[in-house]
Amino acid sequence: MNPNTPRAQARPRGATAPRPRPLAAAVAAALMAAATGCTDMYDQPRYEAYEASPLFADGASARPLVAGTVPREDARNLPAVEDREVLLTGMKDGRLATQSPLAVDAALLARGRQRYDIYCTPCHGQLGDGRGVIVQRGFSPPPSYTERRLVEAPLGHFFDVITNGHGTMYSFAARVAPQDRWAIAAYIRALQLSQGAKPADLPPEDQRTLEGAGK
Ligand code: HEC
Repeated sequence: MNPNTPRAQARPRGATAPRPRPLAAAVAAALMAAATGCTDMYDQPRYEAYEASPLFADGASARPLVAGTVPREDARNLPAVEDREVLLTGMKDGRLATQSPLAVDAALLARGRQRYDIYCTPCHGQLGDGRGVIVQRGFSPPPSYTERRLVEAPLGHFFDVITNGHGTMYSFAARVAPQDRWAIAAYIRALQLSQGAKPADLPPEDQRTLEGAGK
């Protein structure tokens, strides 16, 4: 931008040019504005919802989505499920849901693992033992997922923690879509099962693979 170009005048409609005032008068004006509701700020240079605009050919200020773009948090991106409320809140009839609203299959677990590795391992570690890299460098350690309280927690608790945060852990709602929160929750269950699992817990073919690997 040319530094000599005067800056765009972003003055509210109907506002008069500000005159230099003595400090006391400025303070009094500010106090009055606070007490009475500041009309300058009320009348802002922006469109109200659905206000007409001469700028676009169709006369509408609200613009349609640009072709080929996908807004975040768009309900159209959510998977079709029986219970939308569970999908979005982790709650069923006012209590933490005990089951995932999504079918827990290998694809969901793979997705959960991938998202978990991105968003959660820095603190919780790849095993979910709470010894991620950031913790090793001094961040307060999260509990291990194998703590009894968390093993016994309903699945919805993990969805809830990701959505709303927990204690010092912040919310991931802006970064992790609801369906991915359920994928991560399912993967955390797999992490819990993986710790302390016995070979006999595995399906026979995996047991044979394990035996072969030991030889
Ligand atoms: C920046 C570090 C950090 C990241 C990243 C992080 N957490 Fe946490 N998490 C914590 C800390 C610290 C606690 C303990 C908070 C407390 O109790 O005050 C915690 C607690 C938890 C708990 C236990 C809640 C309870 O009931 O005690 C769960 C479950 C959890 N996190 C899941 C996740 C998941 C899933 C992700 C990834 C989406 C994630 N966390 C990402 C730091 C992190």
